[in-house]
Parts: sequence; structure tokens; C-alpha cells
Amino acid sequence: MIKLFSSLSFSGELEVPSDKSISHRSALLNSIANGKSKILNYSNGEDCLSTLGVLKELGANINLIPKENSYELDIESKGLNSLIEPKKDLYAGNSGTTTRLLSGILAFSNFNSVLSGDNSLNSRPMKRIIDPLRMMGAEIKSNNDCAPLEFRKSNLNGIKYNMDVASAQVKSCIILATLGANSKSIITQPALSRDHTERMLISMGADIKIDTNEITISPGEINSIDIEVPGDISSAAFWIVAALIHPKGNIVLKNVCINPLRTGILDVLIKMGGRIEIFNKRDVANEPVADIKVVHSELNGIQIDGDIIPKLIDEIPIIIIASVVAKGPTIIKDASELRVKETDRLFAMAEFLKSSNIKHNLFNDGIEILGDSDFSGGNFDSFNDHRIAMSIAISSLISDQETIINNSDVAAVSYKQFWDHLEILKLDN
Ligand code: S3P
Repeated sequence: MIKLFSSLSFSGELEVPSDKSISHRSALLNSIANGKSKILNYSNGEDCLSTLGVLKELGANINLIPKENSYELDIESKGLNSLIEPKKDLYAGNSGTTTRLLSGILAFSNFNSVLSGDNSLNSRPMKRIIDPLRMMGAEIKSNNDCAPLEFRKSNLNGIKYNMDVASAQVKSCIILATLGANSKSIITQPALSRDHTERMLISMGADIKIDTNEITISPGEINSIDIEVPGDISSAAFWIVAALIHPKGNIVLKNVCINPLRTGILDVLIKMGGRIEIFNKRDVANEPVADIKVVHSELNGIQIDGDIIPKLIDEIPIIIIASVVAKGPTIIKDASELRVKETDRLFAMAEFLKSSNIKHNLFNDGIEILGDSDFSGGNFDSFNDHRIAMSIAISSLISDQETIINNSDVAAVSYKQFWDHLEILKLDN
């Protein structure tokens, strides 16, 4: 539980934590590649530690060196078939990315394994990966299409697969399974989703071709590569919205990954009137990176739907916070995926708005926030979801009264230093 009060200022310069999606992939892919690799700035969030935990259980040769706000990893691997049968069930904690990406690897591996997680993870939909993996020839048992997932060793063939949700986790699962299959896969996505797997595999020498919504991947070994993980825009998002809505907001965020399939949040906030400057653009680990300056701005409500949704899917809770103070309504549609995240994030944010007496309408696939409102403070539940806890925390910066968030420790799933960084930025820097 944490108690928060509004602040007189919100300013400073910050290096946001390392990108969660890229961290997971750097460890998973290098653990099935040929050679030695060094990963700098690996996320110290609990989800990424879950990935390291399961990889170690699978015999991956990973040496972990703690740094101030991250880890440095040394990985050595002998290729696609270097993992070994685990002595116990694999535990992925709260991490959907660990579960869905690792499933692609377990499906082709030459041993049996069982993969599960915490209560939230074990109730998230896995049919979306079970179906394509079974089509490829994988033998998988599940608990009503949820984890625990039980993999029996099997030979896989490539598939032609039209995905029905724009999910990077599902896409990556099929891509990874195909690396260890007997023939190529052709995957079509309904809309573009984050492409960190594809970018990393290109650098690792995989035979992968991307033609807008269609990906063709061939089986075969990949080569280890050194990776410096850039900062996470999904973590930066909290500070960007904080600086926009706080009357004294003025911050610089350094070293943020601005992969165009992740920057929907910037497009939307700029369209709402946010003064956001992106500068010092460069490339790190085949990903575009930049520094971002944000100053307080008057925001206007907008409509957010369609193909931009996968580009900001994790940022919708914090966009809802921005919409509350914006002038006029903000309508978010086509976002039913939010209902199957760590919690039902549409429901969780609607509960927060309801307890705060903020006018809104909840839909099956989105929400309308009427805008021109203030935050009242109060006692709120994080629903054990890191992004809900951090979004409510940002509202406290301009709330009339004290804000209490229960289960606030859950922020550490993606952002271990979040509460410390919040206090630093509240100082008059
Ligand atoms: C992720 C993909 C997204 C996102 C999640 C991380 C990834 O999930 O919500 O936090 O690293 O591939 P979906 O693929 O289910 O949309």
C-alpha cells in the first residue's frame, strides 16, 4: 500500500528502465543461438527475471551481473537444441511474454516440459498460441486453454497462419517455433504489432522476410549477438503524461526506444495538444532510440481506435488519466485486448474513474471519458496490475486529496524504481 499527495512541481531528467519486451527477447533468443553474447542494461523488472529463471531451469548458461538499475548478462549457447529437460515445472510468474514466447521454443525442443505462472497468468488466454502450435504438430495439454501448459516432445512443420488478433506475443511464438521446425511459416497479422523479435532475428542472421503484414520465416540456426537494451517507452509513458498534466511539468527522458510500432502514445498525446519534443535520435541494437522533452500542455480529447491500438496497447490506462483532464471527450475503441491483460484493464480503470466520480462510459471494446474533470483522490485498488498501479499514481500528482493505492508493490513487475523515481521528479529540480 502507498499513500501519495499532490506535488508543487514535477521536473527533472531521468533515464527510464530498460525495455521489457527487448529484454525478454535478448535472453530468450541468445539462449538458443550459436555463440557467446553480452546483454547490457537488461531489465530488473520481475517479468524479465521470470524469463531468466525459466531459462536457467532449462540449463541455459547465463551469468548475471547486478548493476545499479539493471543487469548485465553473459550468455553462452550451442544453438537451437542446447536447452535441456527441466527438473521441475517452469514458473513464469506474472509474465505473459515469457509464457507465450517460451512456448514457441518448448514446442520444438527435444524434451517434455510444463509451464505455468501466478493466478493472473494461469487465467489468461493461451488458445491463441495453442492453436497454431498444434497446427504445426506440437503436442500440448492445457487447463481449458489456459496454463499450466504441458509440452510433449514433437516434430514441427511450418504453417501458413492468419492471426485473428494483432499480438506480438502470438506472432513471436510462431516465429520461434518455426526456427526449430522442418519447413517455413508464413504469418499474416490483422494489424502491425511490435517487431522486436523480427529486428533481433535479422541481426542474428535468421532467414526472415517482412512484407507489410506478412512475415515469412524459415527454420535454421541463429547467431548470438551483443545487445544494449534501450529504455522502455511503456515506462516513459507515465512520466510523459505526468509532465503534460502537471502545471509545472517539465522533464527530459533519456535513451527511450522509439520503435514506430510502440510510439502510438506519442502520436496520440501530440494530437491531443501535448508539447513533446523528440531529439538526439540514434540507433541502438537495431532499434531507434531518442531523448524526449515534455512540458505542461492543455490537452483536448480525441478518438483513438483502429490500427493504432496495438501501437499503444499497454499505454491505454495512462492515456485514460490524460483524458480525464483534457477538454472534451476522449473515445477509445477496438481495445478489447485490454480485457485479457494482467487484469481486465478496461474494468480496472472504469472502477478507478467510478470511485473518483469522473464521468465515463464503459464499452466492451473501449471506454469514453467525458473530460474537463479533476482527480479527487481516494482509496484505490491496483487489481494487482503494474500499469494500473502506476497510472493511478500519476493522477495523485494533481489530486485534491490523498491517494491510497493498495497492492502498489506490483509496479516492480515492469518498473522496480518507479516509486523512487516518482519522488525524485516531485522535487523542485
Ligand atoms: C508484448 C506484447 C503485447 C504487450 C505486452 C508485451 C511483447 O502483448 O501487451 O506487454 O513483448 O510481445 P500482446 O502480444 O498480447 O498484444
